[in-house]
Amino acid sequence: MNFSEKLQSLMLELDSATASTLDEAEQFRIKYLGSKGVFKELFEEFKTVSADEKRSFGKQLNQLKASAEASVEKWKASLNNSELTAVSTLDLTRPGALFELGAEHPISIIKREIIDIFHGIGFSVAEGPEIEDDWHNFSALNFPPEHPARDMQDTFFVKNPNGSDDYVLRTHTSSVQVRVMSEQKPPIRVIAPGRVFRNEAVSARSHCIFHQIEGLYIDEGVTFADMKQTLEYFAKEFFGKSKIRLRPSYFPFTEPSAEVDVYWGLENELDYRITKGTGWLEVMGCGMVDPAVLESSNIDPEKYSGFAFGMGLERSAMQRFQIPDIRMIFENDVRFLKQFQSAL
Ligand code: PHE
Repeated sequence: MNFSEKLQSLMLELDSATASTLDEAEQFRIKYLGSKGVFKELFEEFKTVSADEKRSFGKQLNQLKASAEASVEKWKASLNNSELTAVSTLDLTRPGALFELGAEHPISIIKREIIDIFHGIGFSVAEGPEIEDDWHNFSALNFPPEHPARDMQDTFFVKNPNGSDDYVLRTHTSSVQVRVMSEQKPPIRVIAPGRVFRNEAVSARSHCIFHQIEGLYIDEGVTFADMKQTLEYFAKEFFGKSKIRLRPSYFPFTEPSAEVDVYWGLENELDYRITKGTGWLEVMGCGMVDPAVLESSNIDPEKYSGFAFGMGLERSAMQRFQIPDIRMIFENDVRFLKQFQSAL
């Protein structure tokens, strides 16, 4: 190859050269521009070309060298940059991003536990609407028309689009009893959890919205003793307490009716405080379903009998989780809710 051909093939070589790492760029520099590199050799040889060729070959040689130097500069700059960014974004020692786990609401925790307990003894879950008609919330449950619970002070009335105002926000889950009894034939064994509404002043201890769980058991020959045993079983499973007592009470839809107290004990100051010094904690209302209620749902009271009970969930949640103010249950402040993550 004469000098001119060498320049020609070098030009092609340089044109097609690439470097994809800093190392390759450095190899290129050593091969062409290094102290024993291709250009060094060519400049040596250049000394031997004839004087009249020197001018054009010299110019070509200098241009090629300049372009090789420019390539090296360019590769090093861009590769340096990309390697730098790769280093700054890819830290393999960094812990992975954690998923934010949701938390179960304290009311849901209590509700789920109670459902589980009754599931174990053959109860299934029933539901009804929160906007309820007067029949299901009151009349079918044996509330006389002038009963004070229908009073404006307790009940939120809902205006119906057709003008009648006999719709209410249900004041208790007992309305679901009526729905179940009119849809199912005995034996009936259901619990009905849900939100209920009462027109009461909101404070740290009471709210106009709260949650109840209703229980209903109807079959042939169901007795008061069956009710007591069922509630004793529940108290043991849910509160971990084995002693309950039934105090006579009154509900329009049960006869006889009772309040259920659980013996909580008086072992420490907290027990003293939550039982007001008595050791007993009132947990729910209950009773034998009034024959008039069975009749209004077309269940023969001569053949069937049953019991019902209803308990609020807020008080249990507040005791269990030491929630000082009932309003926290409804505010959905994330800082409050997050604390129940561990309960999942
Ligand atoms: N519905 C009653 C209340 O709201 C509770 C209850 C339910 C009592 C079932 C007896 C039977 O207080």
